[in-house]
Amino acid sequence: MNVEKIREDFPLLKREIRGKKIVYLDNAATTLKPQQVIDAVVNYYENASANVHRGLHVLSEEASREHENAHETVANFVGAKKEETVFVRNATEGLNLVMYSLLNSNYFKKGDKIIVSKMEHHSNIVPWQYLEKKIGVKLEYVGLNEDYTLDMNDFESKVRGAKLVSMTAASNTIATLPNIREITKKAHNEGALMCVDGAQLVPHEEINFSQMNIDFLAFSGHKMLAPTGTGALIGKKKLLEEFEPFMFGGDMIHSVDYHSSSWNTLPNKFEAGTPHIAGSYGIKKACEYLKKIGMNNIKRHEENLTKIALEEIQKIDSVRVYGPLDHKKQGGIILFDSPLIATHELAMALSEAENICIRSGMHCAEPIVSSINKEGLARASFYLYNTEEEILFFIKALKETLSVFG
Ligand code: ALA
Repeated sequence: MNVEKIREDFPLLKREIRGKKIVYLDNAATTLKPQQVIDAVVNYYENASANVHRGLHVLSEEASREHENAHETVANFVGAKKEETVFVRNATEGLNLVMYSLLNSNYFKKGDKIIVSKMEHHSNIVPWQYLEKKIGVKLEYVGLNEDYTLDMNDFESKVRGAKLVSMTAASNTIATLPNIREITKKAHNEGALMCVDGAQLVPHEEINFSQMNIDFLAFSGHKMLAPTGTGALIGKKKLLEEFEPFMFGGDMIHSVDYHSSSWNTLPNKFEAGTPHIAGSYGIKKACEYLKKIGMNNIKRHEENLTKIALEEIQKIDSVRVYGPLDHKKQGGIILFDSPLIATHELAMALSEAENICIRSGMHCAEPIVSSINKEGLARASFYLYNTEEEILFFIKALKETLSVFG
């Protein structure tokens, strides 16, 4: 994998602010976009800016074909079928789709158990809290071990009798990678549905929805080089056929009269209204781009960066690092803080001094982050275009910034 060549594809890496290049280490928040994806989006607006599934003219036919092909490409990217691939705005909308579809289909009754973990993003907590209020389901949280891995003993005791397990496959904070295959087997043994938040996994390693046998998988395009406002909810065909849709309107219907309607085939049944067509062009190109580089190469590259970052950051006395602290057991994320300076100030200082972009605060996962530090944490997160030099530069800048306060 030629990282220098890959970097040439990303216009933002050429940008200079105050005469210095950008060091972009905020990939868990969103990723940069390669020129190929930007061109694909522009191509839609310049050459085929028509609606899809609503016209027989040449432009609509072209846009419809590309929009359909995008579903096929995204499906192949995660080892699913096209009819199982519903386009949504992001992982959050995907998880909300699952929640509302199950609610509309009367899947839950009062007292039913939903299992999540203590490291979830808000989008895998708040929708289920809504069901707690709405129908009185019981939301239970699986705890973590001291090294921030998932406590499987706790999971095994909590999963008994559950109706749904909804779990992140890769934490956006502590970077833990739960064993989703094992969790899925155990959930299914209990007759529970298995839903996976793949926002932080799908961009970083090859996965196969069918082989993993999970029931629902949600992920965002913007965390894997695609435009914001793109993503997918993958659901087993049998379940998507059985469950009620979440949004109602154009394109999701087969026929409508004044008092009743019937639903379109999959995946259209779950895609109401004019979709993000330019986004479809973009996410298709992003999947092709990643596939060409190879997800295994990307994973190995990120593991190497994580190994270096973990080794180096732990040498700084005034820094505390949280997570499994093992590049084989975690994603490409370093979560940290320092008793010397608040994390927001630290992030601002790194940005002002060296254009180093990291995230600080609660990371849309307040329960786990505030259980570690009520003031929030700092996070550096990596992707295919980051280099060893950038990691070492970040560590050096971090040391220098802290030396002012230490
Ligand atoms: N969920 C995104 C993050 O982790 C925005 O920063």
